[in-house]
Amino acid sequence: MPGGILLGDVFPNFEADTTIGRIKFHDFLGDSWGILFSHPKDFTPVCTTELACAAKVSDEFKKRGVKMIALSLDSVEDHYKWSKDVMAFGNAAGSPLPYPIIADEKRELSVQLGMLDPDEMDKDGMPLTARCVFVIGPDKKLKLSILYPATTGRNFDEILRVIDSLQLTAQKKVATPVDWKPGNKVMVIPSLSDAEAAALFPNGVTTTELPSGKKYLRYTQI
Ligand code: BEZ
Repeated sequence: MPGGILLGDVFPNFEADTTIGRIKFHDFLGDSWGILFSHPKDFTPVCTTELACAAKVSDEFKKRGVKMIALSLDSVEDHYKWSKDVMAFGNAAGSPLPYPIIADEKRELSVQLGMLDPDEMDKDGMPLTARCVFVIGPDKKLKLSILYPATTGRNFDEILRVIDSLQLTAQKKVATPVDWKPGNKVMVIPSLSDAEAAALFPNGVTTTELPSGKKYLRYTQI
């Protein structure tokens, strides 16, 4: 799958060496949600800030039932050494990194999942892995992918926010508007009729008036 993986595809059940030993990805996930986030290289500055942040908020992923796994292009041995830097940078020196890192030294997974960034090369002129975020549902299907270039670090608050939306919208016939946070009103999805919406949402449905006269901005409180 060198072109990458699309929403709704079953995520490949790859085998890989990681800091917790060799895994088969679907067995690693079990019945949980999962997040795989990739990194260009060990011992690099932006990646170190990201991994430290991911470690800090790991309890938030746990609370949501999401198993975390990172990937970087170096060996398991390098990952162990880098993890110590990461935890020290996050003011948690001596604590173990609370999630595993995949060793993709041969770039096999990075190629399979379409993660290489053609604009970022290592010292040997080989492309580095971009910063991909894949969120996988308990059905092993891809629910979200975000792709950042190597030069732009991610925002883990935003990643947790989208996971809240993904988990809510997997359960209820709603969608979440711009900047939505848990507790905010949500939107009734367009495929539901007004009668179906009234029956489904006991807290009621409110509509915003628009110049077109069309009543498609329907909110409800979950
Ligand atoms: C970094 O993690 O700092 C980084 C890695 C590759 C390219 C640019 C930045």
